[in-house]
Amino acid sequence: MESCGSSLLFKALAIGAIVLTAAVLMHARDPCDLLFGAAYPELWRKTGLAGAPARAAACISAGVLLLAAGWLYRLLFAPLELLRSPDDVGYIAADGRSRAQAANEVRRRRKTGELPPVYPNGWYRALDSHMLERGDVRSVTVLGEQVAVFRGQDGKAYVVGAYCPHLGANLAVGGRVIGSCIECPFHGWQFRGSDGKCVKIPYAERVPEFAKVRCWPSCEINGQILVWFHCDGEEPAWSVPEQKEISRGEWVYRGRTEHFINAHIEEIPENAADIAHLAHLHTPGIVSGVDLRYTNSKTWEFLRHNWKVEWTPEPEPYKHCSQMLVKHALTVFGKHWPLLDLNVVARQVGPGVVFLLFDHSFLGRGVIMHCVTPLEPLLQCVSHTIFYQSGIPPLVPKFILRAECIQFERDVMIWNNKKYISKPVLVKEDSAIQKHRRWYSQFYSENSPRLRYQLDTMDY
Ligand code: FES
Ligand SMILES: [Fe+2]
Repeated sequence: MESCGSSLLFKALAIGAIVLTAAVLMHARDPCDLLFGAAYPELWRKTGLAGAPARAAACISAGVLLLAAGWLYRLLFAPLELLRSPDDVGYIAADGRSRAQAANEVRRRRKTGELPPVYPNGWYRALDSHMLERGDVRSVTVLGEQVAVFRGQDGKAYVVGAYCPHLGANLAVGGRVIGSCIECPFHGWQFRGSDGKCVKIPYAERVPEFAKVRCWPSCEINGQILVWFHCDGEEPAWSVPEQKEISRGEWVYRGRTEHFINAHIEEIPENAADIAHLAHLHTPGIVSGVDLRYTNSKTWEFLRHNWKVEWTPEPEPYKHCSQMLVKHALTVFGKHWPLLDLNVVARQVGPGVVFLLFDHSFLGRGVIMHCVTPLEPLLQCVSHTIFYQSGIPPLVPKFILRAECIQFERDVMIWNNKKYISKPVLVKEDSAIQKHRRWYSQFYSENSPRLRYQLDTMDY
C-alpha cells in the first residue's frame, strides 16, 4: 500500500529510535549505569553477580520498549484490520452459553418472515485487490456459489465457477495459474480466465468444444474485485463508478473491517432509509459500545450523536443509485462542538455497494466502501474498506472507521435477531422505508432465486 511522505518520515523516526535504544543497551559496558546511575547498589558490584541483575533488567526493559514501540507504530501507521468471525457480534450469550451456541440457537429458532428473493441482480465485492497477487488463486463464496478468483500472469483478475466440468475438482483448491488460465489440480485441464473455455487437456488429442467452466463477468476498480450476478445470465446493465482519487493514489488504503450478518440482504441497505432508527439506536455515544442492553446506560449519557438524514433515489440514468445525506453533530455534556460536525454522502450503487464520502474542513477527505455480498440466502459478508487523503495522519481515518464500525455493530445486533416483515406497520415519518423497498425491487426479476421452504425452520 502506498504511503505519504510524512508517514514515511514518522516510520523512519520510529525505527531509528528503536535501533538507537537497542544499540545503546547492547553496547553499554554496564547497562545498570544507564538505567540506575549512581543509585545502583554498590553491593551487587562486589558480588560475583556484578552487572547480571542489571543486564537482565536492561533486557526486559528493552523488550518492553520494543513491544511498546511496535504497538505505537501499529497504532499510528498500520492499517486497521478488524475481522469479525460469524458469531462474534450481535448475539447475547446468556446462561453460561458460548457465543457460538447462542448464535446457532438464534439461527435455528428465528422466524424468517415472507422474504423477497435472496440474490438481487448486481455487482458484488468478491475480494480486495491486495488479497490477490499475480499467480494467486482464492476460493470465494458469492451468492451461494463457489468461485475461483485468480490473477493471471498478465495481472488481470478472473472469476470462474470453481468446479471443473471434467470430474468436479475445485479449481481454487490446489489449482495453478498458468498464463491467463487456471489449471485443475486433479488431471491438469486448463481453463481460460477470459471466457472459461478449456484450452488444454494434457493427455488428450483434442479438446471438446463444450468443455468450459462458467465465467463470471468481473471488474477490478477502487482496489476491489467485483463480480456481476444476474439470475438470467444477462450482461452488466451498469458499471461501478471509479473513485478517481484512489486510482490517482491521492487517497490511500487505511484499513478494513469484515462482518458476517444473519439477515436478508435488503435489511442492510434499508437502514439508510430508516431515518427514525438513527435517533434511537445511534444517538448514544460510541463510548457506550455495541451491546444494546447497555448503550443507553446513564454513565455514558454525556456524549450524544445527533443525526439529520435524507434519503432519495437518483433519477435516470442512475436509477440503480440512491443517496443518503447525513449531517452528524456531536454534543458533550449538552454542548455542541461545531468543529466536529461531519457531513457524509452515502451513495448506494446497486444492491451491494455503497460509497460513504467524507469531506471535512480539517479532518480531510476520503471514502469508506461498504460492500454487502450474500454468501447464503440469509448470510451476508459486509466489508468496510477505507481510503483516505494520504497527507492526513492515518490515525484519523482509522478512528473514523472504528467509530463507523461501532455504530454498525449496533445494527448487527438488530439484524441478527430480527424477522423480515413484508407488510410493516409504518407511520407517516417512516415513509422513506416504503420508497426504499420500491427502489430496491428493481434488482429482483421474475427468476430471482428465492429461499426454498426448509423443514427445519420454525416458520409455518
Ligand atoms: S477434475 Fe479437473 S481435470 Fe479432472
Ligand atoms: Fe443503522
